[in-house]
Amino acid sequence: MRFELTDEQQQVQEMVRSLARKTLAPKAAEIDEDSRFPEDNLRQLAGLGLLGMLYPASFGGSEAGAVAYNIALREVAGGCASTAVGMAVTNMVGEAIWRFGSEEQRRKYLPGLASYGIGLGAFALTEPGAGSDAGGLATTAVEDGDRYVLNGSKMFITNGSHAGVTIVMAVTQKDPKRISAFLVEPGTPGFTVGKPERKMGLKGSDTVSMSFDDCRIPKRNLLGGLGEGLKIALAALDGGRIGISSQAIGIAGAALDAAAAYAQDRRQFGQPISGFQAIRWMLADAATGLEAAQLLAYRAAWMKEQGKPYTREASMAKVFASEAGNRACQNAVQVLGGYGYIREYPVERHLRDIKVTTIYEGTSEIQRIVVSRSLVR
Ligand code: CAA
Repeated sequence: MRFELTDEQQQVQEMVRSLARKTLAPKAAEIDEDSRFPEDNLRQLAGLGLLGMLYPASFGGSEAGAVAYNIALREVAGGCASTAVGMAVTNMVGEAIWRFGSEEQRRKYLPGLASYGIGLGAFALTEPGAGSDAGGLATTAVEDGDRYVLNGSKMFITNGSHAGVTIVMAVTQKDPKRISAFLVEPGTPGFTVGKPERKMGLKGSDTVSMSFDDCRIPKRNLLGGLGEGLKIALAALDGGRIGISSQAIGIAGAALDAAAAYAQDRRQFGQPISGFQAIRWMLADAATGLEAAQLLAYRAAWMKEQGKPYTREASMAKVFASEAGNRACQNAVQVLGGYGYIREYPVERHLRDIKVTTIYEGTSEIQRIVVSRSLVR
């Protein structure tokens, strides 16, 4: 057993860490304050091959593998969490098109996703009445000649108004489990994108509703087979969930660094507060939780890369990392005391940004359901 990154993985880590610290982190507070979509950052990531890391160069990707991708995502999240979520969903969408798409679909969308040429990728599963119950969708897609006609609405869709292609899950048969996946392009008549949500954190990330009103799309835009949409969505989410672990580890790692630095500067009772055991234990607990989370995330990513089943491991990594990361951010704010609660320091933003990692791409409760299914049938 080797607990070491390969030379290539180390290079990715160094390159993205440097970008995150020098370029992304200095802008993150302003992006949050102004709820500004970080298009400049995302274009820069595209230039470095970070938006298409999970498919080959022949389709414009960089095929870096799941481990290197998760390292890159963690580093980006440590610099600017809003940028990281745009990167994560685009990579997830690109990988799903690569895995399940036809040759024509791959050629049409993948190079433009990796380069930001067509925009980002969006993944439209969630609906007002179907969140955790992903199989309970109400959006329908009805065959009509050489078209499918989509009707319904989607909610909380990341990258929605900046997407060059959106994977939309809709019911195609009466049996409610018969869900199919479709590729929908912006500007298709009957497809409208709502106003951005006003959120607690990740304020630079684009989160919108979508509605489909007799939206007619060509039959060739079916992704995968008819009725395979839920499996495609859940398979994509397996990889996405490792990504959320990496985001949580990146955000919480930045909070921990800020708290450790502050604790050594801040003097009370005649000494730096890092001299007090109460503070040191908070830092130690945060570091231990994040290290354990990292091992779970690396293992799940490694299993994915090896082509082994990894659904359970991805859910374990997600629930553990997002919860350990939330605790670490809470502790970071506590270490900074009153300064942790104001916007002069970044930990307040880190705490707001990390909250959603226990919610999106499957809540902690859903991850525990997935994990428990491997124990109890
Ligand atoms: N990979 C592939 N197929 C899978 C799968 C997986 N990981 N998990 C299940 N499936 C298959 C099953 O085999 C089943 O197929 P059959 O009908 O042929 O047997 C089908 O998918 C349905 O599975 P289940 O019967 O297990 O479905 P369920 O309704 O009992 O529960 C669930 C599934 C785990 C609760 C699932 O609904 C789930 O994960 N819910 C959470 C939804 C979610 O994560 N939403 C995130 C929204 S996207 C987002 O947040 C992205 C963003 O913008 C940031």
